[in-house]
Amino acid sequence: MSKFITQPAKKLLGKLKVPGDKSISHRSIMLGSLANGITEVSGFLQGEDALATLEAFQKMGVKIERDGDKVTIHGVGLYGLKQPDSALDLGNSGTSMRLMSGILAAQNFDSELVGDESLSKRPMGRVIDPLTDMGAVIESNDGKPPLKIKGAQLLKGIDYDLPVASAQVKSCVLLAGLYAQGETCVSEPETTRDHTERMLKGLGYAVKVEGNKICLSGGGELTAMKIQVPSDISSATFFMVAAAIAPQADLTLEGVNINPTRIGVIDILQLMGANLSLSNKREIGGELLADIRIQSSQLKGIYIPVELVPLAIDEFPAIFIAASCAQGETVLTSAKELRVKESDRIQVMADGLDILGIENEVLEDGIKIQGGLFQKPNGIIESHHDHRISMSFAVASLRCEHVIEINGVDNVKTSFPNFVELANSVGMNIVEI
Ligand code: S3P
Repeated sequence: MSKFITQPAKKLLGKLKVPGDKSISHRSIMLGSLANGITEVSGFLQGEDALATLEAFQKMGVKIERDGDKVTIHGVGLYGLKQPDSALDLGNSGTSMRLMSGILAAQNFDSELVGDESLSKRPMGRVIDPLTDMGAVIESNDGKPPLKIKGAQLLKGIDYDLPVASAQVKSCVLLAGLYAQGETCVSEPETTRDHTERMLKGLGYAVKVEGNKICLSGGGELTAMKIQVPSDISSATFFMVAAAIAPQADLTLEGVNINPTRIGVIDILQLMGANLSLSNKREIGGELLADIRIQSSQLKGIYIPVELVPLAIDEFPAIFIAASCAQGETVLTSAKELRVKESDRIQVMADGLDILGIENEVLEDGIKIQGGLFQKPNGIIESHHDHRISMSFAVASLRCEHVIEINGVDNVKTSFPNFVELANSVGMNIVEI
Protein backbone atom coordinates (compact mmCIF):
# COMPACT_ATOMS: atom_id res chain seq x y z
CA MET A 1 0.00 0.00 0.00
CA SER A 2 1.62 3.27 -1.04
CA LYS A 3 1.51 6.59 0.80
CA PHE A 4 2.17 10.27 0.15
CA ILE A 5 4.57 12.21 2.34
CA THR A 6 4.09 15.92 1.77
CA GLN A 7 6.50 18.63 2.91
CA PRO A 8 5.20 22.15 3.53
CA ALA A 9 5.05 24.28 0.38
CA LYS A 10 4.25 27.97 0.06
CA LYS A 11 4.53 28.96 -3.57
CA LEU A 12 2.59 27.64 -6.53
CA LEU A 13 3.53 29.18 -9.83
CA GLY A 14 3.29 28.26 -13.49
CA LYS A 15 1.07 26.67 -16.12
CA LEU A 16 -0.35 23.18 -16.13
CA LYS A 17 -2.42 20.92 -18.29
CA VAL A 18 -4.18 18.26 -16.26
CA PRO A 19 -5.20 14.97 -17.93
CA GLY A 20 -8.35 14.29 -19.90
CA ASP A 21 -11.82 14.21 -18.42
CA LYS A 22 -12.70 10.83 -16.91
CA SER A 23 -16.43 10.95 -17.66
CA ILE A 24 -15.86 11.90 -21.29
CA SER A 25 -13.07 9.31 -21.70
CA HIS A 26 -15.39 6.50 -20.52
CA ARG A 27 -18.15 7.63 -22.84
CA SER A 28 -15.79 7.95 -25.82
CA ILE A 29 -14.95 4.24 -25.55
CA MET A 30 -18.53 3.09 -24.96
CA LEU A 31 -20.17 5.18 -27.67
CA GLY A 32 -17.22 4.89 -30.08
CA SER A 33 -17.50 1.09 -29.79
CA LEU A 34 -21.24 1.21 -30.53
CA ALA A 35 -20.86 3.59 -33.48
CA ASN A 36 -20.47 2.64 -37.10
CA GLY A 37 -16.99 3.58 -38.36
CA ILE A 38 -13.72 4.62 -36.77
CA THR A 39 -13.76 7.02 -33.82
CA GLU A 40 -10.46 8.76 -33.12
CA VAL A 41 -10.05 10.04 -29.59
CA SER A 42 -7.33 12.42 -28.42
CA GLY A 43 -6.62 13.56 -24.87
CA PHE A 44 -7.93 10.24 -23.53
CA LEU A 45 -7.38 9.81 -19.77
CA GLN A 46 -4.74 7.14 -19.25
CA GLY A 47 -6.07 6.39 -15.77
CA GLU A 48 -7.06 2.96 -14.52
CA ASP A 49 -10.80 3.69 -14.55
CA ALA A 50 -10.97 4.74 -18.20
CA LEU A 51 -8.58 1.91 -19.14
CA ALA A 52 -10.91 -0.57 -17.41
CA THR A 53 -13.69 0.53 -19.77
CA LEU A 54 -11.33 0.30 -22.75
CA GLU A 55 -10.27 -3.25 -21.84
CA ALA A 56 -13.87 -4.32 -21.22
CA PHE A 57 -14.87 -3.32 -24.76
CA GLN A 58 -11.79 -5.02 -26.17
CA LYS A 59 -12.95 -8.16 -24.37
CA MET A 60 -16.26 -7.77 -26.17
CA GLY A 61 -14.53 -7.97 -29.52
CA VAL A 62 -14.01 -4.28 -30.31
CA LYS A 63 -10.65 -3.47 -31.90
CA ILE A 64 -9.27 -0.53 -29.93
CA GLU A 65 -5.71 0.74 -30.42
CA ARG A 66 -4.03 3.12 -27.99
CA ASP A 67 -0.92 5.19 -28.38
CA GLY A 68 -0.60 7.25 -25.18
CA ASP A 69 -3.63 9.51 -25.03
CA LYS A 70 -4.65 8.76 -28.62
CA VAL A 71 -7.19 6.00 -29.05
CA THR A 72 -8.62 4.56 -32.25
CA ILE A 73 -11.88 2.66 -31.88
CA HIS A 74 -13.10 0.46 -34.70
CA GLY A 75 -16.79 0.74 -33.92
CA VAL A 76 -18.90 -2.40 -34.30
CA GLY A 77 -22.33 -0.74 -34.37
CA LEU A 78 -25.06 -1.10 -31.75
CA TYR A 79 -25.44 -4.84 -32.37
CA GLY A 80 -21.82 -5.85 -32.95
CA LEU A 81 -20.55 -6.59 -29.41
CA LYS A 82 -19.51 -10.19 -28.70
CA GLN A 83 -19.87 -12.17 -25.50
CA PRO A 84 -16.72 -11.79 -23.36
CA ASP A 85 -15.13 -15.10 -22.35
CA SER A 86 -15.00 -14.14 -18.65
CA ALA A 87 -16.37 -11.58 -16.20
CA LEU A 88 -15.61 -7.94 -17.03
CA ASP A 89 -13.46 -6.49 -14.23
CA LEU A 90 -14.15 -2.78 -13.88
CA GLY A 91 -11.74 -2.19 -11.01
CA ASN A 92 -12.63 0.90 -8.98
CA SER A 93 -14.92 2.42 -11.59
CA GLY A 94 -18.57 3.02 -10.69
CA THR A 95 -19.09 4.91 -13.95
CA SER A 96 -18.02 1.88 -16.00
CA MET A 97 -20.28 -0.48 -14.11
CA ARG A 98 -23.38 1.69 -14.06
CA LEU A 99 -23.20 2.88 -17.66
CA MET A 100 -22.23 -0.51 -19.05
CA SER A 101 -25.14 -2.17 -17.25
CA GLY A 102 -27.46 -0.19 -19.51
CA ILE A 103 -25.67 -1.38 -22.63
CA LEU A 104 -25.24 -4.99 -21.52
CA ALA A 105 -28.85 -5.38 -20.38
CA ALA A 106 -29.79 -5.08 -24.05
CA GLN A 107 -27.29 -7.50 -25.60
CA ASN A 108 -28.17 -10.97 -26.83
CA PHE A 109 -25.51 -12.54 -24.55
CA ASP A 110 -25.12 -12.98 -20.79
CA SER A 111 -22.42 -11.00 -18.99
CA GLU A 112 -20.99 -10.47 -15.54
CA LEU A 113 -19.57 -7.25 -14.12
CA VAL A 114 -17.18 -7.31 -11.16
CA GLY A 115 -15.08 -4.69 -9.36
CA ASP A 116 -12.56 -4.13 -6.58
CA GLU A 117 -13.32 -4.03 -2.86
CA SER A 118 -14.61 -0.43 -2.95
CA LEU A 119 -16.77 -0.89 -6.07
CA SER A 120 -18.16 -4.15 -4.62
CA LYS A 121 -19.68 -2.13 -1.77
CA ARG A 122 -21.37 0.51 -3.94
CA PRO A 123 -25.13 0.62 -4.56
CA MET A 124 -26.25 -0.77 -7.91
CA GLY A 125 -29.98 -1.01 -7.10
CA ARG A 126 -30.24 2.48 -8.57
CA VAL A 127 -29.50 1.07 -12.04
CA ILE A 128 -30.99 -2.40 -11.54
CA ASP A 129 -34.44 -0.94 -10.69
CA PRO A 130 -35.05 1.13 -13.84
CA LEU A 131 -33.41 -1.48 -16.08
CA THR A 132 -35.69 -4.15 -14.58
CA ASP A 133 -38.67 -1.88 -15.33
CA MET A 134 -37.47 -1.83 -18.93
CA GLY A 135 -37.44 -5.64 -19.05
CA ALA A 136 -33.82 -6.41 -18.11
CA VAL A 137 -32.90 -9.38 -15.96
CA ILE A 138 -30.05 -8.67 -13.53
CA GLU A 139 -28.86 -10.62 -10.51
CA SER A 140 -26.78 -8.88 -7.86
CA ASN A 141 -25.38 -9.42 -4.41
CA ASP A 142 -28.23 -7.72 -2.58
CA GLY A 143 -28.07 -4.63 -4.78
CA LYS A 144 -24.25 -4.62 -4.92
CA PRO A 145 -21.76 -6.06 -7.43
CA PRO A 146 -21.10 -8.52 -8.95
CA LEU A 147 -23.89 -8.03 -11.48
CA LYS A 148 -24.99 -10.96 -13.60
CA ILE A 149 -26.85 -9.65 -16.60
CA LYS A 150 -29.04 -12.02 -18.61
CA GLY A 151 -28.96 -11.47 -22.35
CA ALA A 152 -31.65 -11.71 -25.04
CA GLN A 153 -34.29 -9.68 -23.23
CA LEU A 154 -36.55 -7.36 -25.15
CA LEU A 155 -36.36 -3.90 -23.57
CA LYS A 156 -39.15 -1.37 -23.68
CA GLY A 157 -38.85 2.39 -23.23
CA ILE A 158 -39.78 3.95 -19.89
CA ASP A 159 -40.50 7.37 -18.50
CA TYR A 160 -38.24 7.44 -15.45
CA ASP A 161 -38.07 9.98 -12.65
CA LEU A 162 -34.60 9.71 -11.14
CA PRO A 163 -34.90 9.29 -7.35
CA VAL A 164 -31.34 10.69 -6.92
CA ALA A 165 -29.57 13.28 -9.05
CA SER A 166 -27.14 10.92 -10.77
CA ALA A 167 -25.57 11.26 -14.19
CA GLN A 168 -24.55 7.61 -14.05
CA VAL A 169 -28.14 6.41 -13.60
CA LYS A 170 -29.44 8.87 -16.20
CA SER A 171 -26.80 7.68 -18.67
CA CYS A 172 -27.44 4.01 -17.92
CA VAL A 173 -31.15 4.35 -18.69
CA LEU A 174 -30.53 6.41 -21.84
CA LEU A 175 -27.99 3.85 -23.12
CA ALA A 176 -30.48 1.03 -22.55
CA GLY A 177 -33.01 3.27 -24.33
CA LEU A 178 -30.90 3.09 -27.52
CA TYR A 179 -32.05 -0.55 -27.75
CA ALA A 180 -35.55 -0.24 -26.30
CA GLN A 181 -38.85 -0.32 -28.13
CA GLY A 182 -40.36 3.16 -28.21
CA GLU A 183 -39.28 6.23 -26.31
CA THR A 184 -37.17 6.34 -23.15
CA CYS A 185 -37.31 9.48 -21.02
CA VAL A 186 -35.40 10.36 -17.87
CA SER A 187 -36.31 13.32 -15.64
CA GLU A 188 -33.72 14.52 -13.18
CA PRO A 189 -34.49 16.24 -9.87
CA GLU A 190 -31.47 18.50 -10.39
CA THR A 191 -29.18 19.04 -13.34
CA THR A 192 -26.31 16.55 -13.55
CA ARG A 193 -23.43 16.24 -16.00
CA ASP A 194 -24.72 15.90 -19.55
CA HIS A 195 -21.74 14.39 -21.38
CA THR A 196 -23.77 11.37 -22.54
CA GLU A 197 -26.43 13.53 -24.15
CA ARG A 198 -23.82 15.76 -25.81
CA MET A 199 -21.82 12.85 -27.19
CA LEU A 200 -24.89 11.00 -28.44
CA LYS A 201 -25.90 14.13 -30.35
CA GLY A 202 -22.35 14.48 -31.68
CA LEU A 203 -22.55 10.92 -33.00
CA GLY A 204 -25.76 11.81 -34.84
CA TYR A 205 -28.36 10.36 -32.43
CA ALA A 206 -31.56 12.34 -31.86
CA VAL A 207 -31.83 13.34 -28.19
CA LYS A 208 -34.63 15.62 -27.02
CA VAL A 209 -33.92 17.79 -23.98
CA GLU A 210 -36.79 19.79 -22.49
CA GLY A 211 -36.01 21.34 -19.14
CA ASN A 212 -35.00 18.51 -16.85
CA LYS A 213 -36.40 15.76 -19.11
CA ILE A 214 -34.21 13.94 -21.62
CA CYS A 215 -35.76 11.58 -24.18
CA LEU A 216 -34.57 9.38 -27.00
CA SER A 217 -36.10 6.58 -29.06
CA GLY A 218 -34.62 3.18 -29.80
CA GLY A 219 -33.82 2.04 -33.29
CA GLY A 220 -31.35 4.71 -34.42
CA GLU A 221 -27.64 4.41 -35.07
CA LEU A 222 -24.44 6.14 -34.07
CA THR A 223 -21.91 7.44 -36.58
CA ALA A 224 -18.21 7.64 -35.69
CA MET A 225 -16.54 11.02 -35.15
CA LYS A 226 -13.35 12.58 -33.81
CA ILE A 227 -13.46 13.20 -30.07
CA GLN A 228 -11.07 15.58 -28.35
CA VAL A 229 -11.24 15.04 -24.59
CA PRO A 230 -10.75 18.30 -22.65
CA SER A 231 -8.87 18.44 -19.32
CA ASP A 232 -10.87 17.20 -16.35
CA ILE A 233 -12.22 19.98 -14.12
CA SER A 234 -12.31 17.45 -11.25
CA SER A 235 -8.53 16.98 -11.54
CA ALA A 236 -8.01 20.72 -12.09
CA THR A 237 -9.85 21.32 -8.80
CA PHE A 238 -6.92 20.12 -6.68
CA PHE A 239 -4.77 22.85 -8.22
CA MET A 240 -7.51 25.49 -8.05
CA VAL A 241 -7.83 24.88 -4.31
CA ALA A 242 -4.05 24.62 -3.88
CA ALA A 243 -3.53 28.01 -5.56
CA ALA A 244 -6.44 29.60 -3.69
CA ILE A 245 -5.02 28.65 -0.28
CA ALA A 246 -1.28 28.96 -0.98
CA PRO A 247 0.45 32.01 0.55
CA GLN A 248 1.90 32.84 -2.87
CA ALA A 249 0.29 31.50 -6.02
CA ASP A 250 -0.34 32.32 -9.65
CA LEU A 251 -1.33 29.26 -11.57
CA THR A 252 -2.95 28.77 -14.97
CA LEU A 253 -4.73 25.53 -15.86
CA GLU A 254 -5.02 25.15 -19.59
CA GLY A 255 -7.89 23.77 -21.67
CA VAL A 256 -10.16 22.74 -18.80
CA ASN A 257 -13.68 21.50 -19.54
CA ILE A 258 -16.16 24.14 -18.32
CA ASN A 259 -19.34 22.31 -19.27
CA PRO A 260 -22.06 24.23 -17.35
CA THR A 261 -23.06 20.99 -15.57
CA ARG A 262 -19.55 20.66 -14.08
CA ILE A 263 -18.59 24.14 -12.93
CA GLY A 264 -20.06 24.11 -9.43
CA VAL A 265 -16.55 24.23 -7.99
CA ILE A 266 -15.77 27.49 -9.82
CA ASP A 267 -18.95 29.10 -8.47
CA ILE A 268 -18.29 27.81 -4.95
CA LEU A 269 -14.66 29.00 -4.87
CA GLN A 270 -15.71 32.40 -6.24
CA LEU A 271 -18.40 32.68 -3.57
CA MET A 272 -15.66 31.95 -1.03
CA GLY A 273 -13.68 34.86 -2.45
CA ALA A 274 -11.15 33.01 -4.60
CA ASN A 275 -9.22 35.07 -7.11
CA LEU A 276 -10.11 33.01 -10.15
CA SER A 277 -10.68 34.02 -13.76
CA LEU A 278 -11.46 32.26 -17.04
CA SER A 279 -9.98 33.17 -20.41
CA ASN A 280 -9.66 31.80 -23.93
CA LYS A 281 -13.13 30.22 -23.83
CA ARG A 282 -13.77 27.95 -26.79
CA GLU A 283 -15.96 25.05 -27.91
CA ILE A 284 -14.50 21.78 -29.13
CA GLY A 285 -16.66 18.81 -30.16
CA GLY A 286 -19.71 20.03 -28.27
CA GLU A 287 -17.84 20.69 -25.00
CA LEU A 288 -16.74 24.09 -23.63
CA LEU A 289 -13.13 24.73 -22.58
CA ALA A 290 -11.28 27.59 -20.93
CA ASP A 291 -7.97 28.42 -19.31
CA ILE A 292 -8.41 29.01 -15.58
CA ARG A 293 -6.09 31.36 -13.68
CA ILE A 294 -6.04 31.26 -9.88
CA GLN A 295 -4.07 33.48 -7.55
CA SER A 296 -3.75 33.41 -3.76
CA SER A 297 -6.59 34.90 -1.75
CA GLN A 298 -8.11 34.94 1.70
CA LEU A 299 -11.13 32.69 1.48
CA LYS A 300 -14.24 33.12 3.60
CA GLY A 301 -16.63 30.45 4.84
CA ILE A 302 -20.01 30.17 3.09
CA TYR A 303 -23.24 28.21 3.14
CA ILE A 304 -22.86 26.18 -0.06
CA PRO A 305 -25.97 26.75 -2.23
CA VAL A 306 -27.77 23.39 -2.56
CA GLU A 307 -28.32 23.81 -6.29
CA LEU A 308 -24.54 23.76 -6.77
CA VAL A 309 -24.10 20.40 -5.02
CA PRO A 310 -24.69 18.06 -8.02
CA LEU A 311 -22.57 20.38 -10.19
CA ALA A 312 -19.57 19.94 -7.88
CA ILE A 313 -20.24 16.46 -6.55
CA ASP A 314 -16.72 15.09 -7.09
CA GLU A 315 -15.02 18.26 -5.89
CA PHE A 316 -16.12 18.30 -2.24
CA PRO A 317 -13.08 16.62 -0.70
CA ALA A 318 -10.92 19.43 -2.13
CA ILE A 319 -13.52 22.09 -1.30
CA PHE A 320 -13.38 20.89 2.34
CA ILE A 321 -9.65 21.73 2.34
CA ALA A 322 -10.50 25.21 0.99
CA ALA A 323 -13.12 25.54 3.76
CA SER A 324 -10.50 24.56 6.36
CA CYS A 325 -8.36 27.52 5.25
CA ALA A 326 -11.25 30.00 5.07
CA GLN A 327 -12.25 32.58 7.66
CA GLY A 328 -15.39 31.43 9.44
CA GLU A 329 -17.67 28.49 8.93
CA THR A 330 -18.56 26.62 5.75
CA VAL A 331 -21.72 24.53 5.74
CA LEU A 332 -22.58 21.83 3.22
CA THR A 333 -25.98 20.09 3.22
CA SER A 334 -27.98 18.04 0.66
CA ALA A 335 -24.89 16.04 -0.16
CA LYS A 336 -25.80 12.57 1.12
CA GLU A 337 -24.51 11.11 -2.15
CA LEU A 338 -20.98 11.79 -0.90
CA ARG A 339 -21.45 8.88 1.48
CA VAL A 340 -21.65 6.36 -1.39
CA LYS A 341 -18.73 7.48 -3.53
CA GLU A 342 -15.40 5.60 -3.67
CA SER A 343 -15.47 6.04 0.13
CA ASP A 344 -17.86 7.76 2.55
CA ARG A 345 -16.37 11.12 1.63
CA ILE A 346 -18.06 13.01 4.47
CA GLN A 347 -16.78 10.75 7.25
CA VAL A 348 -13.37 10.04 5.72
CA MET A 349 -12.67 13.75 5.17
CA ALA A 350 -13.94 14.59 8.68
CA ASP A 351 -11.57 11.98 10.16
CA GLY A 352 -8.62 13.45 8.23
CA LEU A 353 -9.55 17.02 9.23
CA ASP A 354 -9.66 15.87 12.87
CA ILE A 355 -6.09 14.62 12.49
CA LEU A 356 -5.07 18.05 11.16
CA GLY A 357 -6.86 19.80 14.04
CA ILE A 358 -9.67 21.36 11.98
CA GLU A 359 -12.92 21.68 13.87
CA ASN A 360 -15.82 20.09 12.04
CA GLU A 361 -19.25 18.59 12.61
CA VAL A 362 -20.51 15.72 10.51
CA LEU A 363 -24.14 16.05 9.39
CA GLU A 364 -26.19 13.23 7.93
CA ASP A 365 -26.12 14.90 4.52
CA GLY A 366 -23.07 17.14 4.77
CA ILE A 367 -20.59 18.78 7.10
CA LYS A 368 -19.84 22.03 8.94
CA ILE A 369 -16.20 23.10 8.83
CA GLN A 370 -14.69 25.85 10.93
CA GLY A 371 -11.74 27.44 9.15
CA GLY A 372 -8.54 27.38 11.17
CA LEU A 373 -4.90 26.44 11.14
CA PHE A 374 -3.66 22.99 10.23
CA GLN A 375 -1.88 21.65 13.32
CA LYS A 376 0.95 19.16 13.41
CA PRO A 377 -0.88 15.97 12.42
CA ASN A 378 -1.53 13.71 15.38
CA GLY A 379 -1.61 10.65 13.17
CA ILE A 380 -1.53 9.40 9.62
CA ILE A 381 -4.39 10.35 7.36
CA GLU A 382 -6.26 7.35 5.95
CA SER A 383 -7.58 7.91 2.43
CA HIS A 384 -9.48 4.61 2.42
CA HIS A 385 -8.04 4.07 -1.08
CA ASP A 386 -10.10 6.98 -2.38
CA HIS A 387 -8.15 8.92 -5.02
CA ARG A 388 -9.83 12.25 -4.37
CA ILE A 389 -9.29 12.03 -0.59
CA SER A 390 -5.56 11.36 -1.14
CA MET A 391 -5.09 14.31 -3.49
CA SER A 392 -7.15 16.68 -1.32
CA PHE A 393 -5.00 16.10 1.76
CA ALA A 394 -1.84 16.47 -0.33
CA VAL A 395 -3.09 19.97 -1.24
CA ALA A 396 -3.35 20.85 2.47
CA SER A 397 0.48 20.89 2.49
CA LEU A 398 0.29 24.44 1.08
CA ARG A 399 -0.95 25.64 4.46
CA CYS A 400 0.60 23.09 6.81
CA GLU A 401 3.90 23.76 8.59
CA HIS A 402 4.52 20.04 9.08
CA VAL A 403 4.88 16.85 7.11
CA ILE A 404 1.58 15.14 6.28
CA GLU A 405 1.42 11.38 5.74
CA ILE A 406 -1.47 10.03 3.70
CA ASN A 407 -2.02 6.28 3.53
CA GLY A 408 -3.50 4.24 0.69
CA VAL A 409 -2.85 6.57 -2.24
CA ASP A 410 -2.58 3.78 -4.82
CA ASN A 411 -5.92 4.69 -6.43
CA VAL A 412 -4.76 8.17 -7.45
CA LYS A 413 -3.83 6.48 -10.70
CA THR A 414 -7.51 5.70 -11.40
CA SER A 415 -8.12 9.34 -12.33
CA PHE A 416 -4.88 11.33 -12.21
CA PRO A 417 -1.79 9.17 -12.88
CA ASN A 418 0.69 12.07 -13.09
CA PHE A 419 -0.65 14.05 -10.11
CA VAL A 420 2.59 13.97 -8.09
CA GLU A 421 4.74 14.93 -11.08
CA LEU A 422 2.52 17.89 -12.02
CA ALA A 423 2.12 19.03 -8.40
CA ASN A 424 5.87 19.02 -7.85
CA SER A 425 6.48 20.82 -11.16
CA VAL A 426 4.62 23.91 -9.89
CA GLY A 427 6.06 23.99 -6.37
CA MET A 428 4.51 21.30 -4.20
CA ASN A 429 6.71 18.74 -2.52
CA ILE A 430 5.12 15.29 -2.49
CA VAL A 431 6.91 11.97 -2.36
CA GLU A 432 5.11 8.69 -2.97
CA ILE A 433 6.57 5.69 -1.18
C1 S3P B 1 -20.10 10.43 -13.15
C2 S3P B 1 -21.17 10.81 -12.39
C3 S3P B 1 -21.09 11.09 -10.94
C4 S3P B 1 -19.65 11.29 -10.49
C5 S3P B 1 -18.72 10.25 -11.06
C6 S3P B 1 -18.75 10.28 -12.57
C7 S3P B 1 -20.30 10.15 -14.59
O1 S3P B 1 -21.62 10.00 -10.22
O2 S3P B 1 -19.57 11.28 -9.09
O3 S3P B 1 -17.40 10.46 -10.62
O4 S3P B 1 -19.30 10.05 -15.33
O5 S3P B 1 -21.46 10.05 -15.00
P1 S3P B 1 -23.18 9.90 -9.85
O6 S3P B 1 -23.95 9.73 -11.08
O7 S3P B 1 -23.26 8.69 -8.95
O8 S3P B 1 -23.51 11.19 -9.14
